[in-house]
Amino acid sequence: MNSLGDLLAVSLVGLGTTSSVLAGVALGLYVPLSKRVLACILAFAAGALIGALAIELAFVGAQELHHLGFNARSAWAFVGGGFATGAIAYYSASLFLENRGAAIRYPTRFREYALERKQEEVTELIGLLSHCDLLRHLPAEGIEELLSSVRTRHLEPGEMLFRAGDPGNALYILARGKVEVLVDSADGGPVTGRSIAELGAGHAFGEMALLSGGPRTATVRSVAETDLLEISREDFEQRITSDPAMARAVERLSHDRAISNLSSGGSDPATWAKVASRSLEHISRSEATKMLTEAGRGAGMAIVFGNILDTIPGCLVIGAKFNGLASLSLTLMLGMFLGGIPEAAASTAMLTKVGYRPMVIFGLWGTVLLAGVLAAAAGKMFIGSSESLAAIFVQALAGGAVLALVAHAMIPESIHDGGSHVVLPTVAGFLFALYLALAESFG
Ligand code: CMP
Repeated sequence: MNSLGDLLAVSLVGLGTTSSVLAGVALGLYVPLSKRVLACILAFAAGALIGALAIELAFVGAQELHHLGFNARSAWAFVGGGFATGAIAYYSASLFLENRGAAIRYPTRFREYALERKQEEVTELIGLLSHCDLLRHLPAEGIEELLSSVRTRHLEPGEMLFRAGDPGNALYILARGKVEVLVDSADGGPVTGRSIAELGAGHAFGEMALLSGGPRTATVRSVAETDLLEISREDFEQRITSDPAMARAVERLSHDRAISNLSSGGSDPATWAKVASRSLEHISRSEATKMLTEAGRGAGMAIVFGNILDTIPGCLVIGAKFNGLASLSLTLMLGMFLGGIPEAAASTAMLTKVGYRPMVIFGLWGTVLLAGVLAAAAGKMFIGSSESLAAIFVQALAGGAVLALVAHAMIPESIHDGGSHVVLPTVAGFLFALYLALAESFG
């Protein structure tokens, strides 16, 4: 039975462990500390947590199981199962929240989110472009530049895109649907001419006027719901001056059309799409800002839950292992406490960029304190440090979640800001945890 005093004490431990995040927010807002220093602190905390989890949770848990009659293999499977389940649960919940905007809590999480979003958008576009007989000849590396100048345009069935004689100001690629090319008089009267060609998905048109600098040679009208990709005259001209392969392809297409209606063939579009998508590895500053603002809108609750998710497992274990102030999980507490500072500082910088006010940022992170208190109390009440199988399993589960947090947020975050130098503080943190564990067990 837990006394009220015990619960109060464990709640204070939870509060103390998580309170560092407010210091982190204050640092992020008012004290421009070197990112590298913060990264080293975060790496040290990550190392300490890994050590604490391996020794205090995994090893001690397995030892307790051994006392209960488990052999090495079954103890490993039991503790490992708990860790794996906890890690999967944390990771899934984290991805779920990140897709709802919680990604903007941390720069690296946001970067990954933004890249994935961009990748999804462009993969579709690349798929469409890759079927274009004209662009297949483009060198794969050129695709990213081209994508930024592509706009989409929708035509209802029967809608006229342009008439023969109109000035030519864009090249079109047919993404979905169908258009017909009609010979037509350039007098602006009703369309009278016959259809000389029907163009479907993947076909480019509008190149003749752009190449010649003259007016459109024919009228183009949709015959179904049609989606077009449009490249402006300026972008097209820039493209073909810098890209001889495309210039040749356009000329060939134009020439072939003058003789027959369609040209086809070329390298495998699927391979082209695959190679092209590999070149999309960075996002521009303006794209990042746009996505950050979009993701930030209404992301408040996702951020709150994301922070809480990062806090609960660690505090649950700290609460569960709490057996009076003399037996605290010092390494776990220290790891969480230290890790909270740079995490909150980095997150504050992101939230400020999105336009959150300081009071709101303090409020968002303040919920972490509440979560810490409740999780520590719940750990003490519902898990406890007894040698029961359920307690050992739930501790392992929470341990797995903390390990996933270390791998998913702490280490990438510290490498992002501190570079590969953070390897050393990580090892130092691990050795520190090892020392504490040995000192405790050797008395
Ligand atoms: P442009 O002259 O800019 O505008 C009309 C477009 O119709 C023209 O470019 C070509 O892209 C396209 N076009 C003209 N003749 C044919 C044809 N025989 N087959 C397919 N497309 C054509």
